[in-house]
Amino acid sequence: MEITRTTRTTNTFTRTLGRSGIEVSALGFGCWAIGGEWQSADGQPLGWGRVDDEESVRAVRRALDLGVTFFDTADVYGCGHSERLLGRALGKRRDEVVVATKWGNLFDERTRTADGQDATPEHARRALTASLARLGTDHVDLYQLHIADARPADAAELRDACETFVAEGLVRAYAWSTDDPARAAVFAEGEHCTAVQHALNVLQDAPAMLALCEELDLASIDRSPLAMGLLTGGHHARRAPLEAGDIRSRPPAWLPGFGDGSGAAPEWLARVEALREVLTSGGRTLAQGALAWLWARSPRTVPIPGFRSVAQAEENASALAKGPLTAAQSAEVDRILGR
Ligand SMILES: NC(=O)c1ccc[n+]([C@@H]2O[C@H](COP(=O)([O-])OP(=O)(O)OC[C@H]3O[C@@H](n4cnc5c(N)ncnc54)[C@H](OP(=O)(O)O)[C@@H]3O)[C@@H](O)[C@H]2O)c1
Repeated sequence: MEITRTTRTTNTFTRTLGRSGIEVSALGFGCWAIGGEWQSADGQPLGWGRVDDEESVRAVRRALDLGVTFFDTADVYGCGHSERLLGRALGKRRDEVVVATKWGNLFDERTRTADGQDATPEHARRALTASLARLGTDHVDLYQLHIADARPADAAELRDACETFVAEGLVRAYAWSTDDPARAAVFAEGEHCTAVQHALNVLQDAPAMLALCEELDLASIDRSPLAMGLLTGGHHARRAPLEAGDIRSRPPAWLPGFGDGSGAAPEWLARVEALREVLTSGGRTLAQGALAWLWARSPRTVPIPGFRSVAQAEENASALAKGPLTAAQSAEVDRILGR
């Protein structure tokens, strides 16, 4: 007799993406790192070093089995590779999940080089068509503008273009990936704008953006929820040398916590160590505690940690079952950080 074993579990911890009513697991999976190596025209590494595509596919499928129903990628991650890989990993299970991707950057898939940005509606249409083909789908659930500092006047036109995409059934809802609340508010004037993607983790709070999300009924999709690995106790958190193809080995100005590229900055590591006890309470790992802090921060947060292995996927997805920190634990975090 054949014995079949199912590893699929049902996680009940979900969140709603703002005014869209779209329900997602309270944890999304960020697909930047699994795009593999790519760079800017002047040689700045923009990926996270080498990755094993087969391991990435296994990690996505493991996440599905553990109840993760939200995946965030971008056309430019790995210059198309992340979208292709996510589409392959999801396969027939595409309709079980909410897929978010981004547009606005120009790149060459063949040379894996990113080169410039284009904030015109014409480019948005071209980029959407290409993303749909790479993902192997007929619609994007959440389409996000990936030019954080785009001019508000350009963004208003792009917002209108997104409304057209929604009317055509190509997109269900849209968002701006920006850390500027004033810009997020411009996009939020569109009926189907439902979220903002922005930096948020226990070391980098964003009270003004969270207040805007509350005011305008937007989801807060939290990028870099593990402070790009600093909040995991991983190898880079012990100041180990980083691979040359890893963006953290040559951190651009917007990437804090990695100093001159020789590893994690000591002052950031000191803050992580100060938080270790409270974040690891309740049997959580450090990474799970960092995610639990985000859920406690606001009912609108949806962290999207990156991953490169089945082990990381399992650890991060398992945080769902443990839920948010308590109010007392969150208050302890604030006390330790002097907030
Ligand atoms: N819109 C934007 O401009 C923007 C910018 C940044 C990020 N994002 C999105 O946000 C997602 C997440 O942010 P992020 O990639 O900046 O970083 P993150 O989620 O803060 O950190 C992810 C990294 O931490 C390590 N890690 C993850 N889980 C771990 C675990 N359980 N144990 C040990 N190490 C673990 C992995 O790196 P190692 O394998 O090297 O250890 C992983 O790549 C991205 O994938 C992307 O979807 C968007």
